[in-house]
Amino acid sequence: MCGIVGLTGKDIRVKELVKALKKLEYRGYDSAGIAFQDKENVYVKKEKGRILNLENMLGDINEKIVESCIAHTRWATHGEPSELNAHPHTDCTGKIAVVHNGIIENYMEIKHALIEKGHRFSSETDTEVIAHLIEEYYYGDLQKAVSHAILDLSGAYAIAVIHNDHPGEIIAARKGSPLVLGKNDDKAILASDVTPALKYTREMIFLEDGDIAHLSENKIEIFSVNGTRINRQSTLINWDEESAEKGGFEHFMLKEIFDEPQSIRSALMGKISDEKVVFKELDSISENISKTKKINVIACGTSYHAGLIFKKFIEDYANTEVEIDVASEFRYKNNIIDTDSIVIAISQSGETTDTLEGVRKAKSKGAKIIAITNIVGSTISREADAVIYLNAGLEIGVAATKTYVTQLTILYLLGTYIAALKNVSKDKLNKIILNMMDMPTVIENILSYAPDVCLQLAKEFYKYKHFMYIGRGYSYPSALEGALKLKEISYIHASAYQAGELKHGPIALLDDEFPVFAIVPDDELKKKTLSNVIETKARNAKIVGICTEGDKEVSKIINSRIEVPKTIDALYPLIMSPFLQLFAYYVSILRKYDPDKPRNLAKSVTVE
Ligand code: G6P
Repeated sequence: MCGIVGLTGKDIRVKELVKALKKLEYRGYDSAGIAFQDKENVYVKKEKGRILNLENMLGDINEKIVESCIAHTRWATHGEPSELNAHPHTDCTGKIAVVHNGIIENYMEIKHALIEKGHRFSSETDTEVIAHLIEEYYYGDLQKAVSHAILDLSGAYAIAVIHNDHPGEIIAARKGSPLVLGKNDDKAILASDVTPALKYTREMIFLEDGDIAHLSENKIEIFSVNGTRINRQSTLINWDEESAEKGGFEHFMLKEIFDEPQSIRSALMGKISDEKVVFKELDSISENISKTKKINVIACGTSYHAGLIFKKFIEDYANTEVEIDVASEFRYKNNIIDTDSIVIAISQSGETTDTLEGVRKAKSKGAKIIAITNIVGSTISREADAVIYLNAGLEIGVAATKTYVTQLTILYLLGTYIAALKNVSKDKLNKIILNMMDMPTVIENILSYAPDVCLQLAKEFYKYKHFMYIGRGYSYPSALEGALKLKEISYIHASAYQAGELKHGPIALLDDEFPVFAIVPDDELKKKTLSNVIETKARNAKIVGICTEGDKEVSKIINSRIEVPKTIDALYPLIMSPFLQLFAYYVSILRKYDPDKPRNLAKSVTVE
């Protein structure tokens, strides 16, 4: 997730755009850049790190009056965070400058074709191809050139473009990434969300996929790709700036749960082709993966829970042994690892010290390391042999939500990829692939009713002091993750057990003051779990549960329940996640805590 902003009109100083860009800093901050046009030229300035670094570097330029300008704050996806990879990107002539939010999936093919034609590239980014494509199609009409260029792009984008020979003009386009436009009597602005535009107007136009916008002074015109004029209604925005940054949601956590369909979509992008899973990132070690007899996984916290689901998935689908350790244990134990070993390290931040030390230890024994992380350029991404990025977008809430569901997405795909390398039947894997392709829509539908259901249940249960989450098979890691979410943000003591283990001790704790959160999807272990639930009921425990839609057997036992759509056994953890997260979220709210900033916790744990 990156942020883009553009401004044109009367008396614009560079510092005005920098200020607008700062409103988008929450969308990414590994580098920032600006392109502006005075009457003669387009100039580009960029800097690694936060927007403040850019502002300091600009110095006197901040006061410069310009005709039009565009800017970008980056959250790296292709190419490490560096000045070179920072936006804006330019064409060979330096006359065209482009900022982009999104991912261009086919950029490598385009790049090769453009290099053949003589274009010279200076960054590793997918975005730079857009500038060169526009150069290729430019014959004096910038809007036409942009319209032509975007026809060649697949993937997602929101772009803004300025050109040396078009003072005061900005051309913008979108497909799949957000773009908002607004204007007042003197100026027109575009931005990735409404926050920078609120200073100018409360009437916003939300650009739609396929739209091309032409901004000049105080004018906004919208066209289709073939040049037909389009009329888009504006929307009145009543949010204050703080809630605008959270997309109108009360907390980042809630916003990030609602980001999940889009994050899963981004994670899937480019990974499925001809009904097969592709991981170009793993080309260099695919031989090692097909030969290996055992895979090790290391991770901490929520990432560890994603790893537990992966372990079961690989054992079920690829018939390959997986050993998983919490990284803080792995780094101090005698690991049976050698040069044939594959170690998968899962870390959202890519900076967790225990996971990094585990990676270093495994590497020193000759293992090949696959890192799964959300942060391009993170330490783990630099030390691993191969890196798979989540592309979930920046997560601000301390409790992992959208990054957990994207970890699961990537891990299911990785499991399917490994199973294919191990010659598992295509039919079995196709089922997973088809279901994964539907996941963004399934989660979108779930989010249309889940908040109401979870709020009602939270009202019933938020006063309890303890909770016991139970599940079997794929639902046991879900129980662990549900309990972790509740502990993290509501400070209720919550533990998780394999449902079959209750009788060996935990059941002694249960009474009418100790409720049970039962995870009972309609999978091959349902009857077993249900009989454990009945045992807890006999101890007077109140039960809240998740089951499959229309499951009468379960609904007879559990009154307070959440129903999820039917899916393949292995995929239940993914579709259950929003419910577990939302239940914890509303309990936290009802207990009057701030779920975005849980006490004693940090988003990234860089100490032992
Ligand atoms: C911290 C965070 C958790 C996260 C864990 C592992 O405890 O609060 O949300 O799951 O670290 O972080 P990582 O970045 O390695 O996935």
